[in-house]
Amino acid sequence: MTPPATKRKGRRSGPSTAKPPKTPAPSSAPTEAGIPLGKSGLRHPLIGLGLFALGRWTREDEARTKATLGRALERGIRWFDTAEVYGSGRSERVLGECLQRTASSVRPFVVTKVSWEHLRPNQVRAALIGSLQRLGRPSVDLYLVHAPDPHVSLKDTMSTLEALWKEGKIAGIGVSNFSVEQLEEAQRALSEAAVLVNQVRYNLFDRDDADPIQEYCRSHGILIEAYSPLARGLLTGRYLDGKGIPPEVRRMAHGLSEEKWIPEVLQRARALHDLAHESEASMTSIALHWLRAQGAVPVCGASRPEQVDATLDAWQHVPSADVLQRADAIARGIRD
Ligand SMILES: NC(=O)c1ccc[n+]([C@@H]2O[C@H](COP(=O)([O-])OP(=O)(O)OC[C@H]3O[C@@H](n4cnc5c(N)ncnc54)[C@H](OP(=O)(O)O)[C@@H]3O)[C@@H](O)[C@H]2O)c1
Repeated sequence: MTPPATKRKGRRSGPSTAKPPKTPAPSSAPTEAGIPLGKSGLRHPLIGLGLFALGRWTREDEARTKATLGRALERGIRWFDTAEVYGSGRSERVLGECLQRTASSVRPFVVTKVSWEHLRPNQVRAALIGSLQRLGRPSVDLYLVHAPDPHVSLKDTMSTLEALWKEGKIAGIGVSNFSVEQLEEAQRALSEAAVLVNQVRYNLFDRDDADPIQEYCRSHGILIEAYSPLARGLLTGRYLDGKGIPPEVRRMAHGLSEEKWIPEVLQRARALHDLAHESEASMTSIALHWLRAQGAVPVCGASRPEQVDATLDAWQHVPSADVLQRADAIARGIRD
């Protein structure tokens, strides 16, 4: 579930026209073992699977759900992103069952989130206990505030998270859909722990939330987790014919009318497709590695095993810096 639109700040209309950040990727070089998160001792995996889709699946889809997760585990994905609101806890439960059944030498990196409706101290604690029970784990690697609630003081929420961190139920604290002001407020409320990640919507076509926080996150060692990295399938080359575009993709039209925005973004997507073809990459490789070049880590969605395969196959191929720069310009509407 995407948090209420009213919680998102500083939106502009239409596809982003902002220039890419000039600062290079974070100074701590990412390795296969992951990106170090501040002084926490945690290392964050470079690519993850998001389990939001589990929430919208009906009971009949359960087998497909498990197959998708199973494929991700087989292919070495470690980072799994879920939330108490996804499928009202069903996403966490299915993840917990799959992790317990799968004997893997690879340690999973489990991230879940407390709902924006549960940010009062007693609610945060109860929400975490519920999540841990569904996941079948004594702790999670990262616990994120899913989105701020303007009616609840962040100070109280963050102090409770810090207490849970001291108790060892959370290895690290993070947030999601936070602006710079909210990040500052959240960090001020912590005395020993630090905000380690901010998960925001971020892809070649939608930078409205990420652009304003880039500098702050870089200078404070906060890793940006990019959700909707594939623009819900648009950046895999799907919907290029303009047919069957689902509401989730249409909603990225922001303030502009669909009649204006959809043809424009489709034109840019087709140009990205041509660039991918010319450079023997795939649109997915370009979309994911463009995010890495910005210093962000993608949390990808998939609703079937083949999509996990396609994403991970694309991840193996790293396009050149020139191709990524051209893709950036195309997505911003600058013609070659
Ligand atoms: N913090 C937050 O507020 C927030 C908000 C949204 C999402 N998230 C997290 O981020 C995760 C990813 O978000 P997202 O699902 O929007 O990401 P996404 O990666 O942009 O979109 C995933 C969707 O793209 C389509 N797709 C993926 N691979 C494909 C392929 N090879 N060919 C064709 N279509 C393909 C699938 O759509 P179909 O299923 O329709 O086939 C898939 O469900 C979520 O699961 C969730 O964990 C967090």
